[in-house]
Amino acid sequence: MTEQEINTLNQQFATQSAMEVLAYCLQRFHGHIALSSSLGLEDQVLTDMICKIDKSTRIFTLDTGRLFPETYLLLDRTNLRYGIKMEVLFPDREAVEALMKECGINCFYDSVENRKRCCKVRKIDSLMRAFEHLDCWICGLRHEQSVTRKDVQIIEYDKVNGLIKVNPLVNWSEEEVKKYIRENQVPYNKLHDEGFPSIGCQPCTRAVKPGEDIRSGRWWWEDPDHRECGLHQR
Ligand code: ADX
Ligand code: SF4
Repeated sequence: MTEQEINTLNQQFATQSAMEVLAYCLQRFHGHIALSSSLGLEDQVLTDMICKIDKSTRIFTLDTGRLFPETYLLLDRTNLRYGIKMEVLFPDREAVEALMKECGINCFYDSVENRKRCCKVRKIDSLMRAFEHLDCWICGLRHEQSVTRKDVQIIEYDKVNGLIKVNPLVNWSEEEVKKYIRENQVPYNKLHDEGFPSIGCQPCTRAVKPGEDIRSGRWWWEDPDHRECGLHQR
């Protein structure tokens, strides 16, 4: 896909609904497209939409081995609700064991470098495996989520990973996401009702107070301008 085509599509998508964007992309990249789902609110909206369009679409999740029990419950509930089987990708056993031996089980609190190593072994390497045979990945990024995400486009070339990336909910507000979940009775993580707006790994996520930044509970001990795990480099 050329840069010009991507620009044209972004103009077209600007006036279309997320469902229309998804329908276009699922057809255009049929067989080579997947949703990368963290089982967060946005990804649950996308799962609901995708299942309404084409249930055979690949949906995968990166199981870091450090997720909340509530997230595993949601994975099961989501599969049951939609009659699908989400792909669950695990990290490489030897790489995790080597990291544990060298750095310790909770080394991510010690330095940004250690945290990035853990994210690489437990998430990024699995994501690279998921990308084999993929031309396009669908994500739940939104502008409002973080300063690091304010320039994300609906469709863009992910030059770091060499494939097309689609973010159908990029312009949605948190309220719009919640409204869709309510109106369509989409299953969601119960932790969202307990002060967790953004949920990742259990040791790296904490609840936030009302009014606080939605991602302030993620890697809270680090500088907000660089608080990304590496899944979404630009
Ligand atoms: S993160 O990079 O900080 O962890 P965030 O939780 O905001 O990301 O999620 C943003 C998008 O990244 C999600 O909508 C999803 O597409 C993808 N993502 C994040 N975590 C995972 C995961 N564990 N498995 C699959 N996709 C994920
Ligand atoms: Fe490791 Fe925390 Fe990254 Fe999860 S979020 S992979 S536990 S550093």
